[in-house]
Amino acid sequence: MSYISSFNRAACSKTTIIMFSTQVYTDRRNKLKKGVKSGIVLLLGNSESPMSYASNTYHYRQDSSFLYFFGLDSPGLAGVLDIDNNEEFLFGNDFDLDDIIWMGSQPKLADRAQMVGVSKTKAFDKLYKFIKKARKQGRKVHFLPPYRGDNKILLSKLMDTSVDKLAKKISEKLIKEIVKLREIKDTYEIEEINKAIDTGYQMHVTAMKMAKPGVSEQEIAGFLEGIAAAGGNMVSFPIILSQNGQTLHNHLHNNTLDEGRLMLTDAGAESPMHYASDFTRTVPVSGKYSQRQREVYEIVLRANTEVIKQSKPGVLYRDMHLLAAKTIATGLSELGLMKGNVDDAVQNGAHALFMPHGLGHMMGLDVHDMENFGEDFVGYNKKIKRSDQFGLAYLRFAKELKVGHVITDEPGIYFIPELLANWRADKINADFINYDKVESYLDFGGIRIEDDLLITDDGCIEMGKKIPKTVAEVEKTMAE
Ligand code: GLY
Ligand code: MN
Ligand code: MN
Repeated sequence: MSYISSFNRAACSKTTIIMFSTQVYTDRRNKLKKGVKSGIVLLLGNSESPMSYASNTYHYRQDSSFLYFFGLDSPGLAGVLDIDNNEEFLFGNDFDLDDIIWMGSQPKLADRAQMVGVSKTKAFDKLYKFIKKARKQGRKVHFLPPYRGDNKILLSKLMDTSVDKLAKKISEKLIKEIVKLREIKDTYEIEEINKAIDTGYQMHVTAMKMAKPGVSEQEIAGFLEGIAAAGGNMVSFPIILSQNGQTLHNHLHNNTLDEGRLMLTDAGAESPMHYASDFTRTVPVSGKYSQRQREVYEIVLRANTEVIKQSKPGVLYRDMHLLAAKTIATGLSELGLMKGNVDDAVQNGAHALFMPHGLGHMMGLDVHDMENFGEDFVGYNKKIKRSDQFGLAYLRFAKELKVGHVITDEPGIYFIPELLANWRADKINADFINYDKVESYLDFGGIRIEDDLLITDDGCIEMGKKIPKTVAEVEKTMAE
């Protein structure tokens, strides 16, 4: 019985291989080998993940770094780069007749390897001996932090250490070299992201048109999932859709939409090759924003657009976060919800009562790109260290923008009753917050507006066809 069949037969019947040209993968691996310089790079693919029993699996998702360097979107594979001997291997198993009866005919492992420019293949269980031998020779085995249980167990066996101690052995060198490559998106990657964005556009316009009093959140979320699947793949993360938009990542879709509320939808899709999109729109259930809703909406919109105006190579994204924070603090002061000097308020983190999250993150093969490496490796560096101030501490990406970065711009204003009660009780930032007035917004919910930006030579572009965003555009779309 092959490695694949011992996991699952029916669910891995993917026979169409969608990939970039062979040269893309060869070039990426060559650059990685040059950067890492010595030792062995071990990149584990993902296995199937069971829902309720072994052969009843979740939608298969390959590991993003494995996809980036080895391109093959199927379970049961591991890639090895032996830098010292300039050899590349794909470990996996060929399908046997039993598998093929259930799955249809499948390409041979050697053929799949050749498609991505790898000439040597070995049976998957040979990986143990291979890694053991290298370790015995005192060679460095570079691997990434595992995030799935089965790969943690596999790595603990390969590295002969407990799962708990694996973290000590991960390769920072490998992480840093991969970040250098994956953070700059090539034109063919941008094309893939744009496919995901096209699907994201359809999802959000559909959500706007479906939002009406009496419609269930789950029904809308279900339609959006269907649009993502029809677009060629799945959602890029579990859909956030709720009239309780003050809960930042609200995956519960258990309300029926009420007249007068706002519906926040944060959703995106994966392209056929697993590149992500990620957008948020917040719309009035009744089709027209109330005056109070419009006033707050316009502030968030200004924060979102100011960031678009000022994002360009060389700018720190932390400064864009602070620009959004200042825009929000200014707007809330004009509404009488904040008070005092705006710069001091932002410096003290007072705006974080309303926007307790970061402005955005990198996006690519993962919606939060490379977050499995550890956020600080992606969004921070030697010069830019993470703040420990509430709010700013949650900023995922703070470092300098470069041409080819794809990032999200997602400011928001939320009225979170528990956070407000906590701050008020402890008189936190009482010099900058009109607590009595803020209390009158407790039934407001939350507003977030999110777009995906590509950093260009002299600025940035909002990627894709524009999803209705101004008050007038949203209300017009909802009325159609
Ligand atoms: N996927 C949630 C967000 O970062 O926008
Ligand atoms: Mn989002
Ligand atoms: Mn996002």
